[in-house]
Amino acid sequence: MGENLVPDTSVELAGLLLRNPVMPSSGTFGYGLEYKDLYELDTLGAVVTKSVTREPRYGNPLPRIAECDSGMMNSIGLQNPGIDHALEIDFPALRQVYDGPIIANISGFSVGEFAELAARFEKVNYVSALEVNISCPNVHEGGATFGQDPVLAKEITQAVKEVSTKPVFMKLTPNVTDITEIALACEAGGADGISMINNFKAMRIDVRTRKTITAEKYAGLSGPAIRPIAQRMVNEVYHAVRIPIIGIGGIRTADDVLEMVMAGATAIQMGSANLRDPWACKKVIKALPHRMHELGISDLDEIRGVV
Ligand code: FUM
Repeated sequence: MGENLVPDTSVELAGLLLRNPVMPSSGTFGYGLEYKDLYELDTLGAVVTKSVTREPRYGNPLPRIAECDSGMMNSIGLQNPGIDHALEIDFPALRQVYDGPIIANISGFSVGEFAELAARFEKVNYVSALEVNISCPNVHEGGATFGQDPVLAKEITQAVKEVSTKPVFMKLTPNVTDITEIALACEAGGADGISMINNFKAMRIDVRTRKTITAEKYAGLSGPAIRPIAQRMVNEVYHAVRIPIIGIGGIRTADDVLEMVMAGATAIQMGSANLRDPWACKKVIKALPHRMHELGISDLDEIRGVV
């Protein structure tokens, strides 16, 4: 790389052109509006919105957040305003303040509901892609159970692809024995990419009350604690499938982004980091080209999947 050349952070992701590989992960950025006054949202590679379900959902009882060493747990339970409100209010409001690619995360409780949600987004031209959540650990039906069964994972992928012309990313749970089996099933169903990983089913107990800290007994662990496991899984899937991967799991720094790309990711999402520091994505986007320059990396394509 020439001394003065600025490294290229742009990536091509299943036909989407992103100015950089960094996007906030679903559920940690709402529909963008809480962040719009903090920084210029157009700096983001893409925005991934909170899971939308057919009906509005309040979510699980409180408390539903617990702090952990090197991470956090949540048991939100897919709180969201429902598809009607989201399409009428939340997505148009996001489009007003953000010009880049919007990836809509959808979550259904049956194969038919996933298809119905995907069909509703088909009419929204400014939504660039769908992320299909078959991995939520915090609901008693559907959720991660869809992503733990390769037959169902394939069926949902096919059902969404049948009604959608947008790129479809299947979001996988790590709570399986072999994540490559699920990724391959999604690829066979026509997925354009894989988002991975969602959080790990976990538990914390208050020793004084002898009760779990979250009202739901189990909750999803995310944050730096899971990053090395996420990278191992991304690497396994990278070597198993031909479709691109969005790497997710505990990313906080530019070096974390580079590690995830070296593991095989095309782009990345930052989740818990936004809750600890709302400027986290912006800081990483700023630092990334400098760190690439220091390490002699001119283009992210040259390091993808080097291990
Ligand atoms: O419980 C939640 O709303 C989290 C969803 C998810 O992790 O997919």
